[in-house]
Amino acid sequence: MSCYYKEKRMLYGGDYNPEQWPKEVWEEDMRLMAQAHINIVTVNVFSWAALQPDEDTYDFTKLDAIMELVRANGMKVCLATSTGAHPAWMARKHPDILRTEKNGMKRKFGGRHNSCPNSPTYRKYAPKLAEKLAERYRDFDNIVAWHISNEFGGECYCENCEKAFRKWLKNKYGSIEEVNRSFDTAFWGHTFYDWEDIVLPNFLSEHFIDGATGQERTMFQGISLDYMRFISDSMLECFQLEYDAIKKFTPDLPITTNLMAAYKGLDYQKWARSMDFVSWDNYPAPSDSPAMTAFRHDLMRGLDGQKPFVLMEQTPSVTNWQPYNRLKRPGEMRLLSWQAVAHGADAIQFFQIRRSIGACEKYHGAVIDHAGRADTRVFREVAQLGEEIKNIGGLFLDGKTPARAAILFDWDNWWAVEYSAGPSVRMKYLDTVQDFYQAAFALNVPIDIISTQDALDAYRVVIAPLLYMVKRGYEQKLQDYVKKGGTFVTSYFSGIVDEYDLVDEGGYPGRLRELLGIWVEENDALPQGEQNAFSYCGRRHPADILCDLMHLEGAEALGMYEEDFYAGMPALTVHSYGEGKAYYIGTHSDEEFYQTFLDRLFLQTGVQSVQQTPFGVEAAVRENANGAYLCLLNHTTEKKTVVLEGDYEDLLEGCSCNCHDEIVLEKKGVRLLRRVHK
Ligand code: GLA
Ligand code: ZN
Repeated sequence: MSCYYKEKRMLYGGDYNPEQWPKEVWEEDMRLMAQAHINIVTVNVFSWAALQPDEDTYDFTKLDAIMELVRANGMKVCLATSTGAHPAWMARKHPDILRTEKNGMKRKFGGRHNSCPNSPTYRKYAPKLAEKLAERYRDFDNIVAWHISNEFGGECYCENCEKAFRKWLKNKYGSIEEVNRSFDTAFWGHTFYDWEDIVLPNFLSEHFIDGATGQERTMFQGISLDYMRFISDSMLECFQLEYDAIKKFTPDLPITTNLMAAYKGLDYQKWARSMDFVSWDNYPAPSDSPAMTAFRHDLMRGLDGQKPFVLMEQTPSVTNWQPYNRLKRPGEMRLLSWQAVAHGADAIQFFQIRRSIGACEKYHGAVIDHAGRADTRVFREVAQLGEEIKNIGGLFLDGKTPARAAILFDWDNWWAVEYSAGPSVRMKYLDTVQDFYQAAFALNVPIDIISTQDALDAYRVVIAPLLYMVKRGYEQKLQDYVKKGGTFVTSYFSGIVDEYDLVDEGGYPGRLRELLGIWVEENDALPQGEQNAFSYCGRRHPADILCDLMHLEGAEALGMYEEDFYAGMPALTVHSYGEGKAYYIGTHSDEEFYQTFLDRLFLQTGVQSVQQTPFGVEAAVRENANGAYLCLLNHTTEKKTVVLEGDYEDLLEGCSCNCHDEIVLEKKGVRLLRRVHK
């Protein structure tokens, strides 16, 4: 049974906003949805203005009608709380709900995701609305989940947030002395004497735009880092207030909010601990590689201990907010949907069912477009996928990814690396993680994305790219893991600071020195276009972005720099530690290097590819009590052939295919296979 909707089949549907149309249209929507095999709608995402026209009035007439209609048509509901955009009267009467931007500018009414998370008004009225909804619709047994607000995010720098920040710091540090110590305010004489001295880090205080790069920077990493943690926590508190309000009336219904994958602003690993299940919105840009989308799915699956998630939104055809809104090509929506399932999705939903006629999303794709007809390419594709999903039923539900290798991802580290002043603005956390993920993806090796809280024992290989921040105690976890036979990999500029962004003295990589058996003396940041090189496995590979200049202290060099004054110094090392090994890649290299490196490493550690495929064809596996499922996904626009490495039954075509059979994937084609044991 799916952890999500407690359903025995995969649900299929999307955001539905009938409040934008007259009732005659609703009946037509119901007919078309049934035709497309849609069985779930997310309703009430942005209706606060209608539900609460003033301070004391709540009006559920329209929502009642929508809820009745949907129930009468046999559809499940994911019920949203509408708190992602506040009503105009509230902004007029209670301006504390309006956000203040980083430059100190107080906003007026407008936009969405616009409420200050520390506004007393927001914290009063948002949970109140959620509670009223839960009380009113508690007996609708077709509600399968709650959807709080919408895509939480952004920042606020108002006075209420400033006060709340001081409280948050007081709670974390206890005394002003501890704050001074952890922010290292002795630097530039920034010592705080009183809690009131502490102001939010923004363009009025510690932040500025760097003239050379146009990038935002901070002069005090400690306070900026804590602000990110604070604002993430502030919004999480808002989520929790609504969560608790809903649970009073519907304690058994699971609650989520739609996340945005690699969204830097919120520590989703912390958020997931308060959510009943993870759901997220997948809008790849046309330039995003299939590996990037796969990574985002894996990141989302990893938030809640590798449990399945819900694909809450994707466009059936096109977005409207990118500079060039390229149509998804025929078959592409289907391919991306099955890719989501292959990586852990237990439900597939669209934004949105019917295309609006006004405002900024009127050209956003929808199942039913402005023509209102079923004989469109998009509708046909949605209906065809609906039929496939119906036929697959519950087969994939609760399926796990059999990963033996993991990549560590840590929001604190992400913030800290990119707030770092030096050594290089080219050090980008997400890109560095992608370097490794992309290489594993190309080898069809399943990867779990894990947090610093997760256990490591299940993995033969753990990769922690750019582990700049090592939280106190994490070095011990890594040591224990390697001692017992694990293989650990990390990269340049790792082991530098603790969770306060304070440098560990005694030489880099700090508390990772013992495990890695090296001492990094200096870091050379190469400007764009400059390269060094190193040889590995008989090939010369580029070294760029950053070159760590290191000495061996027990480790063995696997590759040396070949140019400049540090030619002959190690670039890549391995250290035998207990029964395992720890690798340090002291520089950034190219795709070929990461693939060669991981290919060898996986071979040595017995981490297997799920299936060999030609370039551009992805193979991913999910396993559950019903069996093991191999999903073959052709991301190219050419026909491709895969030679099977096992015996399977084809779930969509109903035929069986044997080991060594050549199976053909049409362009953007998908094959869903169930393993057969002969
Ligand atoms: C987000 C939002 C939706 C809609 C879509 C458009 O994911 O949650 O309300 O705006 O983007 O792509
Ligand atoms: Zn605020």
